Amino acid sequence: MGRKFFVGGNWKCNGTVEEVKKIVATLNDGKVVEQDIVEVVVSPPFVFLPLVQSLLRSDFLVAAQNCWVKKGGAFTGEISAEMLVNLGIPWVILGHSERRSLLSESNEFVGDKVSYALSKGLKVIACVGETLEQRESGLTMDIVAAQTKAIADRISDWTNVVIAYEPVWAIGTGKVATPGQAQEVHFELRKWLKEQVNPDVAESVRIIYGGSVNGANCQELAEQPDVDGFLVGGASLKPEFLDIINSAT
Ligand code: G3P
Repeated sequence: MGRKFFVGGNWKCNGTVEEVKKIVATLNDGKVVEQDIVEVVVSPPFVFLPLVQSLLRSDFLVAAQNCWVKKGGAFTGEISAEMLVNLGIPWVILGHSERRSLLSESNEFVGDKVSYALSKGLKVIACVGETLEQRESGLTMDIVAAQTKAIADRISDWTNVVIAYEPVWAIGTGKVATPGQAQEVHFELRKWLKEQVNPDVAESVRIIYGGSVNGANCQELAEQPDVDGFLVGGASLKPEFLDIINSAT
């Protein structure tokens, strides 16, 4: 069976109640391809999760943009996986490059988070990706493999994992990876999974691309055989997010 196309919208640290309601209204009114062709998950900031969950069309799901690495407690400012489950939030984004760089989240810490979130019943969009310096040094696959290994060393069931390849140099820059660049890394990452995890996981896990995806460049990227969807930032706040959803192949 083929891999179902997956489009995530990472709203990052953006929005007011009014703006969020407007985005949701645009999504609710949008015409999109059938649900059996594409899985859509939008990820507002924590404070808007219940509101978005209550207003969003039923064929779209919601994700948190992060969660804590273990059971809640004296961890000021953190949101636990249990809290997300209690709110009925099904997905969580973990290991985003902005958290890896700004908050020094290590590969091992991200791996522990992925393992814990899955153990509590959450589905995980796990982010990996190299910096421009690492790419220019020829280290892209070394970095992506190490990030993925830190997850693979801690989980055995990949059913509820989507991997998002997000080259740091393409995030928020307008410098989208070419279809060839994206396909190359997705192919190599899938090959790594086949060799280091198992062929069934390699074949079934969705590997989605993120980094300056928009309504104009999504179609060519979507046509790449190992690109199974997108994790969209800036463009997910705009009506063109519907065009990106409809690029599902
Ligand atoms: O998580 C997706 C995000 O990092 C991509 O951001 O604005 O380049 O689409 P953007």
